[in-house]
Amino acid sequence: MVKLTFVQPDGASQTVEAEPGVTVMEAAKLNDVPGIEAECGGACACATCHVYVNPEWVEKTGKPASIEEDMLDFAFDVRKESRLSCQIKVTPELDGLTVRVPAKQF
Ligand code: FES
Repeated sequence: MVKLTFVQPDGASQTVEAEPGVTVMEAAKLNDVPGIEAECGGACACATCHVYVNPEWVEKTGKPASIEEDMLDFAFDVRKESRLSCQIKVTPELDGLTVRVPAKQF
């Protein structure tokens, strides 16, 4: 299992365990992480699964594909470490990944 930590805008954090192969969004939904709405169910069509990847993890999570970048245009307060969590696949290399949930999701 891979450990993922979600940090809320108020600093509260929740560490969950995820099977490799699911997405970071799916791991959040399975564990009722607040603030990850994922209205489109992971189809890269809503931007309500927006997260900020902690800087030290940006290289491992990789860059967004162009379809993801297009959808990020609809998210609030997009930063260079912004990703759509439904587009980040959990792999063993991401064990310890920390992402922050934006203050405003939509
Ligand atoms: Fe809709 Fe990620 S769940 S874009």
